[in-house]
Amino acid sequence: MDSGKNKIYIVGNWKMNPASQDDAEAMFDEIENEVYRINNDGMEVVICMPCLFLSEFDPEGKIRLGAQNVFWEKQGAFTGEISAEMLRRAGAKYVIVGHSERRKYLLETDEMANLKIKACLAGSLCPVLCVGETAEEKERGDAGEVIARQVEKALMGISDKEILGKILIAYEPVWAISSGANPVIPTTDEIMSMGLIVRKALMKLYGSHEVVYSIPILYGGSVCCQNCFDFVDKTGMNGLLVGSASLRPQEFAGIVKKFAE
Ligand code: PGA
Repeated sequence: MDSGKNKIYIVGNWKMNPASQDDAEAMFDEIENEVYRINNDGMEVVICMPCLFLSEFDPEGKIRLGAQNVFWEKQGAFTGEISAEMLRRAGAKYVIVGHSERRKYLLETDEMANLKIKACLAGSLCPVLCVGETAEEKERGDAGEVIARQVEKALMGISDKEILGKILIAYEPVWAISSGANPVIPTTDEIMSMGLIVRKALMKLYGSHEVVYSIPILYGGSVCCQNCFDFVDKTGMNGLLVGSASLRPQEFAGIVKKFAE
């Protein structure tokens, strides 16, 4: 990952889609064709896909490759798991860690996110740490506390040298993810204040403005071509994590185009 707080990161999360390699190739090619035509020098465009598709694509192309999960051990008797080295060799540069769907369905914890981030950094992969409050936590007024705790626990024991220029953090309010045809989304003020809470937690951990402001923070949750620009332009965020809209190549390319110079 090239550090630089002015860079814009557009990260697609295909989740458990599509069903076949042919479909993955068709979707990727369509996005790539569009992205090749635009000047995206100040951007990093990433697709996090099911890991079995990774090796079909060029890791040095205009679109970087990412996975959606990693295990913290290097090798051995861990049935069903995939190591950082395996992902890197398959072409991945990024890995989503601590996504709310894995927290919900696989009971992943902040401690697991911490182990996974350490494994990513040791394995030369850039983790995309996802943090976000649920609807209940928001209603109780606990959102800020939840976000700060998730950031602090996930980064515990990781030094500033290890992390500088090597991690992305995505603020994804759980209640805004996959909200469908009539998106439920936070206001730009809410996103901005959550971004500041993430930076405050980083300040508590690292005590340095250099570190705090060099870590890109993305917004995720029902991002589409229509709403994407303000999520960055009006919030101080450094990019977007895009779920369902990344499965529609023209829509995803449209999001990239909004930020092209
Ligand atoms: P969404 O998903 O864009 O479909 O809301 C975002 C995410 O889960 O990363």
